[in-house]
Amino acid sequence: MRLLVTGGAGFIGANFVQLTVAERPDTTVTVLDALTYAGNRASLDPVADRIDFVHGDIADLDLVDELVSGVDAVVHFAAESHNDNSLAEPWPFVQTNIVGTYSLLQAVRRHDVRYHHVSTDEVYGDLAPQDPPFSEHTAYNPSSPYSATKAASDMLVRAWVRSFGLRATLSNCSNNYGPYQHVEKFIPRQITNLIEGVRPRLYGAGHQIRDWIHVEDHNRAVWDVLDRGRIGRTYLIGADSELDNRTVVELLLAEFGREPDDFDHVTDRAGHDQRYAIDAGPLREELGWAPRYADFRAGLSATVAWYREHESWWRPVKAATERAYTDAGERTISLP
Ligand SMILES: NC(=O)c1ccc[n+]([C@@H]2O[C@H](COP(=O)([O-])OP(=O)(O)OC[C@H]3O[C@@H](n4cnc5c(N)ncnc54)[C@H](O)[C@@H]3O)[C@@H](O)[C@H]2O)c1
Repeated sequence: MRLLVTGGAGFIGANFVQLTVAERPDTTVTVLDALTYAGNRASLDPVADRIDFVHGDIADLDLVDELVSGVDAVVHFAAESHNDNSLAEPWPFVQTNIVGTYSLLQAVRRHDVRYHHVSTDEVYGDLAPQDPPFSEHTAYNPSSPYSATKAASDMLVRAWVRSFGLRATLSNCSNNYGPYQHVEKFIPRQITNLIEGVRPRLYGAGHQIRDWIHVEDHNRAVWDVLDRGRIGRTYLIGADSELDNRTVVELLLAEFGREPDDFDHVTDRAGHDQRYAIDAGPLREELGWAPRYADFRAGLSATVAWYREHESWWRPVKAATERAYTDAGERTISLP
């Protein structure tokens, strides 16, 4: 199979490309990535001589058309992905997540190429503590410019399936963690702070609940959907690992031998979603998927080890990322 992977220099895309090269020798991979601040060529170093890398924008219709004409399938990871950035400046989210997806859809439609669309559970908004988890029947109710633009892109895909017979599938996954995640994101930010001897920084009281999944489990599910998913169908991906943010910080502090209250509370994100949770029943039952990192603590320990061993990967952007949080007005707070 000849595969085009968009956003392959980002967190999940790079892990997907590495997994594909390692386990699917019959697949040839071309990565299309704009190398925004979130993309990093070094994340593809281990497979650099086994893939083709194209530096370009998914919204470039001519480039995308040319690349899509030469492949059998597209897996679309490229996105603006950070909620905080979407609150500060929404336009790149509209441009990449909506216009960029449109550009890909037109090309796969023209060349009748199989398409898989990678999306997020954040399109469903958030849940109260007692609500049942999200399923593919949950109504879309996005809260932030990030999740709204992802929701819009999902709708484009569904419409292209219905109107133009596109051979497409979608997946909506919960929060990922693992190697190669940018240090702006919650778990790597705390890990790299701890490696530097800085106290973790928790938004508000830390009661927000996320349903964590290891990035490798996400990517194996994407392959299952690509291989055996039903065209037009949406699959929810999650590993039944609901934890609140404070508990995650306490687990990380324990990994570093620090006291459980050795962290700072900082100003919360505006409109911060309370809880996400996924019902991945259809993925497990129809496609036989199951997470290999079923134990979140073990996956977290492995992730801490990776960041300890790959300081040269994250160190160059750490200070600037922390400065951006300070410039955006983040400050420590005391809770009543
Ligand atoms: N991270 C999560 O927890 C999570 C959970 C569920 C779904 N998702 C989805 O998975 C996908 C990948 O997320 P991620 O965390 O790896 O994101 P990321 O921000 O780490 O990587 C995004 C990549 O896309 C590239 N990119 C951005 N704009 C581009 C453009 N216009 N043209 C080409 N490339 C461009 C960036 O350079 C980067 O390499 C996204 O679609 C996201 O919505 C992420």
